[in-house]
Amino acid sequence: MRLFVALDLPDALRERLRFLAAGLPGARWVPAENLHATLRFIGEVPIWRAEEIDAALARLRAPSFPLSLAGVGIIERGGRLASLHAGIERSPALEHLHAKIETALQRVGLPPERRRFLPHITLARIDACSEERLVTWVQANNLFRAPPIQVGHFTLFSSLLGKQASAYTPEVEYELALP
Ligand code: 2AM
Repeated sequence: MRLFVALDLPDALRERLRFLAAGLPGARWVPAENLHATLRFIGEVPIWRAEEIDAALARLRAPSFPLSLAGVGIIERGGRLASLHAGIERSPALEHLHAKIETALQRVGLPPERRRFLPHITLARIDACSEERLVTWVQANNLFRAPPIQVGHFTLFSSLLGKQASAYTPEVEYELALP
C-alpha cells in the first residue's frame, strides 16, 4: 500500500480553492476531491506495517486546532518548477501534530523524514507552464486568504497512482481532542 497522512478539507474550502484553478495554460490542476494537506508521506509499505502504522496513529493524542490558508507558492524539484500550492499558516498546534505523527511513525520503524515540513495544499503540477505566466499567476493570487477551518481529525490515506490523477482513499480517520 502507498500511504500518506494528511488533513482532508471541508467542501467549502475545496470550493474556494477551485476558484484558483484557472488562468494558467499548461497547469495540471488537482481535482477538487483530491485536495489535501499532507502531514507525512509514508510511501509503499506491506500490509503488516500499515497495521502497525494505524495502531500507532490511533494511540496519538493531540488537540483540535484552527487552520488558516494564506498566499500561494511554488515548489522546485530537481532544478525545475514542479508544483503550485496554497500556503498554510504555521501554528504551534499544527507543528505539534506534525511532530507527534513523525515520532509515532519513527517508533514503528519508519526512517525519519528528511525534508523540512512545508505545510501546503498542492493545487497543480506546473512542469509544462511558462515561467512568465507563473510569475503573473502568483502575483495575481498571492493575497489569497480563506476563513480558518477547525481541524478535528487527521486521516491515513492510501493512494493509487494514475496517469491523469491519483486516486486517494481515506482509510482511517483519527480524532483530535476538543480544545
Ligand atoms: P505534494 O502535494 O507536495 O506533491 C500524496 O501523494 C501526497 O504525498 C502529496 O500531497 C505529495 O506531496 C506527497 N508526496 C508524494 N510523494 C512524496 C515523496 N516522495 N516525498 C514526500 N512527499 C511526497
